[in-house]
Amino acid sequence: MSACDREKQAETNSVLTVTDSADCWTGVGANQIPVTEKGQLIRYGRNLVANTAFYIGPKGMVSNLSNGMNCQNCHLDAGTKPWGNNFGGVAATYPKYRDRSGTEETIEKKVNDCIERSLNGRALDTGSKEMKAIVAYIQWLGNDISKGTRPKGSGIKELPNLTRAADPVRGKKVYTGICEKCHGKNGEGLFNPDNITYLYPPLWGKNSYNTGAGLFRLSRFAGYVKYNMPNPITYHNPQLTNEEAWDIAAYINSQPRPAKDISKDWPDIKKKPRDHPFGPYADSLTEVQHKFGPWK
Ligand code: HEC
Ligand code: HEC
Repeated sequence: MSACDREKQAETNSVLTVTDSADCWTGVGANQIPVTEKGQLIRYGRNLVANTAFYIGPKGMVSNLSNGMNCQNCHLDAGTKPWGNNFGGVAATYPKYRDRSGTEETIEKKVNDCIERSLNGRALDTGSKEMKAIVAYIQWLGNDISKGTRPKGSGIKELPNLTRAADPVRGKKVYTGICEKCHGKNGEGLFNPDNITYLYPPLWGKNSYNTGAGLFRLSRFAGYVKYNMPNPITYHNPQLTNEEAWDIAAYINSQPRPAKDISKDWPDIKKKPRDHPFGPYADSLTEVQHKFGPWK
């Protein structure tokens, strides 16, 4: 029995029924959102995660704060797909201290971090209905998880380090062979006919995530694509080798994208992750080696 199966068994004792997940945590299905006023807020939060651009994108019906991508482009299946950057561990582990900001962070702060970085946008007002709804959804999803734990399959799966530097030239070949047909020759993605939301989200250029985003770190990008791309694979049937995943991360994160001033990030430089691409560092490695590896 895999670790995920064991966890699933343990979960059957809890109050909410867990939808059949084959193995890892996938949350309760959206059809179990309660039919109450609170449930309406949760459902709105789910819609905001799945269809962010429709509400707060450049042509959003509520406001125009973000770049046209959806949270769901990176938090797949509205944040429930195993190793699809899923939200399973959030309700149980926030507020928590995070080294990137050097402060205790609430879910609201983390959501706005993603809006300002991954969606290259402007923060939502903490008191807005939209922020309340997103937080209500994330809390409802993780309601089942014991405090302080992260269920198997939440977040991004780590890949082992390469022993060489990740190589953008090799990565470009993989991009052309596998990814370009959806994400476009210039990583620009493809809009739906409504011109509001993307069919295929952009990977670089002015409408993509900025240099302060999590995916701009090669380890986050490589772990995400290995188990989720080409869409819609799962971690059961990855199609990229680890080398390909690292190389393609190097290629895509060498392309132009919006810049973000993140000079205040990682106030304790000893805590910077190995693949953080901007100095100063506590060791003598260059920015290039920190970005591409090899790391010890
Ligand atoms: C371009 C990709 C991308 C988009 C779009 C995006 N995020 Fe994220 N998000 C990430 C990455 C990468 C992480 C960090 C994952 C890690 O380090 O393991 C993250 C982390 C998070 C976390 C913390 C997860 C945890 O387990 O600690 C929350 C909450 C979150 N995002 C919410 C959102 C919301 C809400 C939106 C839409 C408003 C959004 N994100 C849009 C990439 C994205
Ligand atoms: C068949 C079409 C298709 C192919 C091929 C494909 N993707 Fe995607 N990709 C998608 C779709 C669709 C999404 C958004 C998924 C969603 O919203 O549910 C996505 C999302 C992403 C994201 C997160 C959102 C963003 O725009 O930053 C990244 C990163 C990504 N793909 C990288 C890749 C890489 C690298 C490859 C090649 C190895 C690849 N994709 C191949 C369709 C594809």
